[in-house]
Amino acid sequence: MDFYNLVLRRQSVRKYTNKKVARDLILKCIESARLAPSASNSQPWHFIVVDEEPYLSEVAQATITAALPINKFALQAPCIVVIVVEKPKLITRLAGFIKQRDFPWIDLGIAAEHFCLQATELGLGTCMIGWFNEKKVKKIIKIPPNKRVGLLITVGYPPDDYKLREKIRKPLNAIISFNKY
Ligand SMILES: Cc1cc2nc3c(=O)[nH]c(=O)nc-3n(C[C@H](O)[C@H](O)[C@H](O)COP(=O)(O)O)c2cc1C
Repeated sequence: MDFYNLVLRRQSVRKYTNKKVARDLILKCIESARLAPSASNSQPWHFIVVDEEPYLSEVAQATITAALPINKFALQAPCIVVIVVEKPKLITRLAGFIKQRDFPWIDLGIAAEHFCLQATELGLGTCMIGWFNEKKVKKIIKIPPNKRVGLLITVGYPPDDYKLREKIRKPLNAIISFNKY
């Protein structure tokens, strides 16, 4: 699959069959995430593969809040990958402080997309989840209280009839300019 096609095929999948995802496929996705670039090559991430009960159901439940129950689909996912933000190198921390940039969170987003693109190429469906109860997730899977959870990614097989949606995006001319803002 050429790169542009892969980008078109990657979409947020919010319906999964109950087929388990083999761990070697998840490892391949994490391998692609591992190779992602990061500020000063700090690689400030840790991936927790949640694919066993009771952790899986409990983490899925922690993405559903009464105020905004948007993530009910997470309960169907046979695997949820939790990405923890790790401390970057001292040089990155200094640079981030001086320039007021949160490099680790930028890095994490890039790695997450590497993960999702690789998963798409393997025929898997993913959805990044940024709306979750962080405190609960940390408690369930024993993440130290001083760490932050950056993102969750649900992973599974979309049903055969799951349609590839047209991308809803701003047009190119609305997001681009040459030489000046
Ligand atoms: C940082 C981030 C957080 C997101 N959080 C959620 C979420 O909590 N629940 C959800 O259903 N989708 C979530 N999404 C998916 C977006 O809604 C989705 O990427 C966007 O609407 C574009 O659709 P597409 O992924 O199908 O191309 C998140 C995406 C990103 C990048």
